[in-house]
Amino acid sequence: MRIDFDPETVGRNPFYKLLTAVVVPRPIAWVSSIGADGTSNLAPHSFFSVACVSPPMVQFTSVGRKDTLVNVEATGEFVVCLAPEELAREINGTATDFPRGVSEFEAVGLATEPSLRVKPPRVAASPVALECVLHSTVNLGDSTVVFGRVVHAAVAEEVLVDGHPEARLMRPLSRLGKNEWATVGEFKDIARIPYDQLQS
Ligand SMILES: Cc1cc2nc3c(=O)[nH]c(=O)nc-3n(C[C@H](O)[C@H](O)[C@H](O)COP(=O)(O)O)c2cc1C
Repeated sequence: MRIDFDPETVGRNPFYKLLTAVVVPRPIAWVSSIGADGTSNLAPHSFFSVACVSPPMVQFTSVGRKDTLVNVEATGEFVVCLAPEELAREINGTATDFPRGVSEFEAVGLATEPSLRVKPPRVAASPVALECVLHSTVNLGDSTVVFGRVVHAAVAEEVLVDGHPEARLMRPLSRLGKNEWATVGEFKDIARIPYDQLQS
């Protein structure tokens, strides 16, 4: 027995709640950008993924026209910082609807560090920064998908094991439905099985 939900009859907000409750867990891109007036901006976006391998690209979605989207369109640059467990309070703090012109970095007391290839700063306390230049945007209904080409990745030495970023050390937060957030749980190593090794 299943219960059916038709987006046409359920309505925008309840179906949005349903979608975000079932597409879980979502990684959180902590997106740093700079406005045309020079104000730095930082906001979490959980509609986030890898978009292309070569060239390396990531994507995030702005639901509505938020400052991050306006800044990225104006300057063509942004930085995706990893959202670590120990900064949950600050990450949530940067999702407050501050008026334009207020820097979330200052509002929540986060130190910045300069990026190497783009103008928006990195979150100094975040272990990973993906420096991006705007590739394109796609408007979909009330939302805009932003694609960025990753021109530089800066990873804290402490989260690298044999040169590889380790989730156990990065401790990324993720977003679930409602007001729920999650930390990484149990780890499993599951190797892909090539077809010619399958037993019949
Ligand atoms: C964990 C988390 C994830 C979020 N994900 C998104 C998202 O994917 N897209 C979006 O438009 N807003 C998202 N938000 C809300 C924005 O962060 C919030 O509206 C913020 O104020 C936008 O800031 P800005 O106007 O400076 O860009 C999220 C909020 C939180 C706390």
